[in-house]
Amino acid sequence: MGFDRTLIITGGAGFIGSHVVRLFVTKYPGTRIINLDKLTYAGNLANLKDIEGKPNYTFVKADICDYETVRGLVRDNNVSGIIHLAAESHVDRSIVDPFTFARTNVMGTLSLLQAARDYWEPAGWEIGGKPCRFYHISTDEVYGALELTRPEGDPSAGESGGGPFGDDFFTEETKYRPHSPYSAAKASSDHFVRAYHDTYGMPALVTNCSNNYGPYQFPEKLIPLFINNIRYRRPLPVYGKGENVRDWLYVEDHARAIDLIFHNGRDGETYNIGGFNEWKNIDLIKVLIRTVDRVLGRPEGADEDLITFVTDRKGHDMRYAIDSTKLKEELGWEPSLQFEEGIEKTVRWYLDNQDWLDNVTSGDYMSYYEKMYGV
Ligand code: NAD
Ligand code: TYD
Repeated sequence: MGFDRTLIITGGAGFIGSHVVRLFVTKYPGTRIINLDKLTYAGNLANLKDIEGKPNYTFVKADICDYETVRGLVRDNNVSGIIHLAAESHVDRSIVDPFTFARTNVMGTLSLLQAARDYWEPAGWEIGGKPCRFYHISTDEVYGALELTRPEGDPSAGESGGGPFGDDFFTEETKYRPHSPYSAAKASSDHFVRAYHDTYGMPALVTNCSNNYGPYQFPEKLIPLFINNIRYRRPLPVYGKGENVRDWLYVEDHARAIDLIFHNGRDGETYNIGGFNEWKNIDLIKVLIRTVDRVLGRPEGADEDLITFVTDRKGHDMRYAIDSTKLKEELGWEPSLQFEEGIEKTVRWYLDNQDWLDNVTSGDYMSYYEKMYGV
């Protein structure tokens, strides 16, 4: 069967990437999707079981740092677009092993950019009549941390244009001030993408999104880790006093934004993606406990005794809050789910998919867990 175009999605076996691959494969049957993924501990083909037999889907196991392989893949398949999600993504791991983060996030991105440029530039940035595009997925963590000027939180503050925990937000103009090795490596990769646009004229754009949650997230990140621990009545390691604030977005809303921006965003631009949905960790954790307890038929809140305050993360960013007004005004994107609804769906998904959780928490997972938390 002939296809209109071929796109590479990197990191498609990971959390967000699997939602993006699923959306593109099902929404665009005329587009061939190549999922390029190294299958690190965070990549799992079980995340894509439901679409693996589709005629427009191909999986290629490869490392984005392997320039020759990536270059061959772009060339041999007449690839006209790359949506780049592959990365090392966990802050705690970056604190232990920064080299791996620089390798994959910086050198891997550079290898992809150069492979794309090598094929696209001589063709005038057009392959088979299709304009080329390199779309780099990044994080709000590159902007650094905001202050907590209203530590108790004030939900009515939003009416005067501020967030519940502070007046300021990250906008597309906020200066980069990454603190963790993870965010430093992502910041560097963002700069390389913009440099390829500015230097070579590569059609490229970057988006910076807030914390995602939903199905298929590896249970080392807060929400799936805690759901799993509550289920087994294991301690919930809350860093510091649990006062840090994160801005949460349901993963399918991020995938929808990626689709919209890939097709309608402007080259050379940056778009922030977020749901104006800030939560203090400890409050979010209590909502999680109540939801898991209710779904499991335990008395609501019974598992609050699992909360265990542990030593804070080194360099722990206090608050993230994204202003996504530009995306709303330019492309009409808005999150579709209320947080309570998203959390309910997420909790039910993890509790209904014990096989998936057991599968990804087998092997090396417990030794990582023991090393991290000493339990
Ligand atoms: P993830 O860790 O769940 O998945 C990463 C995927 O990349 C895995 O499938 C892994 O196998 C693959 N990968 C890692 N190194 C690779 C390499 N060298 N070559 C090829 N594949 C490799 O990550 P995620 O949470 O889905 O994040 C995806 C992207 O979105 C990342 O770039 C991340 O920085 C960004 N992001 C994540 C969040 C979030 O809350 N999770 C928020 C904003 C932006
Ligand atoms: P995480 O899911 O790792 O995302 P990020 O660090 O990229 O924001 O963590 C979300 C918040 O939860 C962050 O403030 C750190 C905190 N946290 C804990 O308190 N305990 C944990 O075990 C984990 C994994 C995170």
